[in-house]
Amino acid sequence: MENLIALVNRLQRACTALGDHGDESALPTLWDALPSIAVVGGQSSGKSSVLESIVGKDFLPRGSGIVTRRPLVLQLHRIDEGREYAEFGHLPRKRFTDFAAVRKEISDETDRETGRSKAISTVPIYLSIYSPNVVNLTLIDLPGLTKVAVDGQPESTVQDIENMVRSYIEKPNSIILAISPANQDLATSDAIKISREVDPKGERTFGVLTKIDLMDKGTDAVDILEGRAYKLQFPWIGVVNRSQQDINKNVDMIAARRREREYFAQTPEYKHFAHRMGSEHLGKVLSKHLETVIKSRIPGLQSLINKTIIELESELSRLGKPIATDAGGKLYMIMEICRVFDGIFKEHLDGIRPGGDKV
Ligand code: GDP
Ligand code: NA
Ligand code: MG
Repeated sequence: MENLIALVNRLQRACTALGDHGDESALPTLWDALPSIAVVGGQSSGKSSVLESIVGKDFLPRGSGIVTRRPLVLQLHRIDEGREYAEFGHLPRKRFTDFAAVRKEISDETDRETGRSKAISTVPIYLSIYSPNVVNLTLIDLPGLTKVAVDGQPESTVQDIENMVRSYIEKPNSIILAISPANQDLATSDAIKISREVDPKGERTFGVLTKIDLMDKGTDAVDILEGRAYKLQFPWIGVVNRSQQDINKNVDMIAARRREREYFAQTPEYKHFAHRMGSEHLGKVLSKHLETVIKSRIPGLQSLINKTIIELESELSRLGKPIATDAGGKLYMIMEICRVFDGIFKEHLDGIRPGGDKV
């Protein structure tokens, strides 16, 4: 089953590749149908930090103010062995093994699109990470929701960000990772406000509480983490990310995860549910949930893929064979991927349906 997410990732990348070719094909629809996890919350609530903890690597630009200014579509691929590396959609075939260089490329690629202003852009950056230490997941880091535009930003920025975030999370197949900082009143949480709008019953929202270590002395997050303050279908998960000081002092991810584990295990208020807290647990829960969702979507995806194959075939014949042009080659490749998927979905369907009738 783990392979299924990897395959959906492949399909998503194929959709991206075709995106360069033009939008007349059915693939953008296919992309929309594939489930992914969008990370939402106010500026500096800890979104990028949570993503880094799930991945277990330092690779995102982080800090105070508006750092994330374009959507980052992050595909995690679990590999059995070997050295971890990263690849960008806009730099195919270039392998990054230095994650500081990945961070720099995200910044540079953001600037290339937006100019060096604080402007935002809806054009996503695609990044794949291959590692033995990740679970198969697709996550989307989004610019933080905010109340006021900063110097140099157009007035419309606040609304533009909100619209961009909403466009990702309003899709019924999007899973929302709603990040709220524990050192602010939950009633003022931007993440809760916007996720409640698109998912009022909390059926596809995972509540994540960050900065628990920064709460005022004498207060705790038990009411939130036990689901009494704001009820969601899934249990809330608390995390303790690295502080800015930790980052400045280069506290590494392994040490940070260990400290996070100890924090929950040793705090009297939290130790009875420590096993369901922390970034590692969060990563596992999300991967498991994504698998369940994909499994339930197989029949729908399959018919969409069939439709896509038919449309691609007609586009190919329109281009004329033999395919010499780059566009033709790309289409051909994507069609092959669709065929592979189609076969796999059929196999899974046989496994799911009682009696396993052939499709
Ligand atoms: P984003 O704007 O939502 O992506 O937030 P960032 O991940 O960039 O984090 C903003 C700042 O808050 C950074 O300086 C982080 O180090 C800090 N931070 C995030 N989560 C935590 C946490 O759980 N505890 C502490 N102490 N600091 C955190
Ligand atoms: Na930030
Ligand atoms: Mg960020």
